[in-house]
Amino acid sequence: MMTQYALKMPHVVYSGVGALENITSILNKEVTKIVIFTDKGIVGAGLLELPLAWIEKTGIPYELLDELPVEPSCDEAQETIDRFKVMNADFIIAVGGGSVMDIAKLASILMTDQYGVRDLLENPSMAKKCVKTLMIPTTAGTGSEATPNSIVLVPEKALKVGIVNEAMISDYVILDAEMIKKLPRKIAAATGVDALAHAIECFTSKKANPFSDLFALEALDLILNNIEAACDDAEAMDAKNAMLLASFYAGVAIATAGTTAVHALSYPLGGKYHIPHGVSNAMMLVPVMKFNEPMCKDLFAKAYDRVHVKGEAKTEDEKSKWLVNRLDEIVKHLDIPTRLSDYNVPKSDLEELVASGMAVQRLLVNNRREVRAEDARALYLELL
Ligand SMILES: NC(=O)c1ccc[n+]([C@@H]2O[C@H](COP(=O)([O-])OP(=O)(O)OC[C@H]3O[C@@H](n4cnc5c(N)ncnc54)[C@H](O)[C@@H]3O)[C@@H](O)[C@H]2O)c1
Ligand SMILES: [Zn+2]
Repeated sequence: MMTQYALKMPHVVYSGVGALENITSILNKEVTKIVIFTDKGIVGAGLLELPLAWIEKTGIPYELLDELPVEPSCDEAQETIDRFKVMNADFIIAVGGGSVMDIAKLASILMTDQYGVRDLLENPSMAKKCVKTLMIPTTAGTGSEATPNSIVLVPEKALKVGIVNEAMISDYVILDAEMIKKLPRKIAAATGVDALAHAIECFTSKKANPFSDLFALEALDLILNNIEAACDDAEAMDAKNAMLLASFYAGVAIATAGTTAVHALSYPLGGKYHIPHGVSNAMMLVPVMKFNEPMCKDLFAKAYDRVHVKGEAKTEDEKSKWLVNRLDEIVKHLDIPTRLSDYNVPKSDLEELVASGMAVQRLLVNNRREVRAEDARALYLELL
């Protein structure tokens, strides 16, 4: 276990029924101009209107950047940031999923002409916070509202790369389940499994520590008990609220423990074939956890003991098996595609995938069981 660890999280987090109303107190008199970051999907779903009603009550002028790209490349993120820079705002509100929040977080540290997103790929810590941010997640989710990470596609590497800078941790977060109420099932399922992956990866990370365990286990408990209802039942507001909390908690866990081999090996799937982040993690989740099981039985059993709905398992082996089976059951129940053939990935790409996946050492080093190239090859082969 690590000998030192730190808990870094947003300054103030509002949650619960009607939490959006706190927008007015957040936007105190020091804010002179707001830019709202969002995307077409959010606007099309009529979701922007909910926070906008509160923003307009403050009378503070605002501008919209409402056509942000989904799963942005570093250059697409930079284009949005360049438009933002000339707007002379001193506050950012991000209304969206991980894609929107990640661009907004980068913008909050890149109001400068001296360097841009591509420079941060090499030297992420050079940038400092320029404007305060409020994150309003509309998926549950990436947990980006809690993390110092921003994930961008680097096209020439066909890889998604995480830029990590503490200055990107947002100042304010509002978790209001109204924002995920109408989330289409397909998106709710994939993003929910992303949060599930964050929780179990952080709990089994080599960088796990008492802080990350606290958040990862609570996230896991909430997700294992609510994910199906939250995705299947449009009216299940308690389950949706639980998922929103869980994705935030799992994000807090990422910030202190980091994800592991599921995310590492899924990055090339997003980078090369544009498989949505949650879907690529859902593909990798069960194969990687089965691979990890010999080294993680104690932790899987501990997780079993911690979660509220469980089976009749008594021994460590049985408890561990139950957990891995439960992950499998969730991915299957939610009808998430788990074959690479569903995305027309040819078998001939295998070696390229292995090389790209093995390049994500930033996360692979966190995995309790060492992942060698032959292991990565076997894991990808399971999906082909
Ligand atoms: N920064 C982090 O810590 C972190 C962690 C995990 C993933 N990510 C990144 O986040 C991105 C994925 O984010 P995501 O999974 O939240 O999805 P997303 O932001 O890419 O959104 C996916 C689609 O869902 C739509 N959508 C979002 N919320 C909706 C709602 N409530 N109703 C209707 N439509 C809605 C969007 O318009 C978009 O078309 C990826 O780029 C991934 O790499 C970042
Ligand atoms: Zn993720």
